[in-house]
Amino acid sequence: MERLQKIIASSGYCSRRTAEKLIIAGKVKVNGVTITDLGTKASLSDTILVNGKIIKQSNLEYVLLYKPRGVISTVKDEKGRKTVVDLIETNNRLYPVGRLDYDTSGLILLTNDGALTNKLMHPSSEIDKVYVAKINEAVVPSKIKSLENGVMIDGIKTAKAKTKILKIDKKNNTSLVKITIHEGRNHQVKKMFEAIGYKVIKLKREELAFLNLNGLKAGEYRHLTIKEVRKLYNICQ
Ligand code: URA
Repeated sequence: MERLQKIIASSGYCSRRTAEKLIIAGKVKVNGVTITDLGTKASLSDTILVNGKIIKQSNLEYVLLYKPRGVISTVKDEKGRKTVVDLIETNNRLYPVGRLDYDTSGLILLTNDGALTNKLMHPSSEIDKVYVAKINEAVVPSKIKSLENGVMIDGIKTAKAKTKILKIDKKNNTSLVKITIHEGRNHQVKKMFEAIGYKVIKLKREELAFLNLNGLKAGEYRHLTIKEVRKLYNICQ
């Protein structure tokens, strides 16, 4: 979200000062509603008219969703299961950037910006993804540490990772382990733990690059700010 006068000025229509005067004079509409308050913010996907003229607006949309378990990370599902796209109210055709398994919860981006998607998905982008895995036993720290230099999955060694044991519950025979990777191979985290003899019984992605799930509950989402979008473009050049 960015201030209306800033969006109007950066479209090249007029200066920020003039945009402010136009807003006060009731000449600016956002999604059909006249706005006279200078504090109003709009997003990239809002339609803005000044003096009845459409200000050049991108319809690019960027959503950060807290995916619940039991939702599929595709646009459509042939089995009729709920998809991440079903959770977003929009007129744009959004799609998820990468995948989380059906039974994995956590942070996933959706957008209709193909250029950013390609950048984020490119192996050279090396964007950190932080997961918290619940393991079906009390883990041995040295085994967890061995994930950091890479393990063989599907015949290929994984890249360096970071790990941190958050909890070992000897009574219930479970553990919580935080793992940071930057690759995005199929079922990667589950397979990495499997490679050292552990089973992941719950998995959540908590962070992607500088983005986290703060303020959101499972099933909720928010739009990225223009600053966040720019930052994503910058970190994966
Ligand atoms: N690794 C997995 O095993 N599953 C996911 O959903 C994401 C990463």
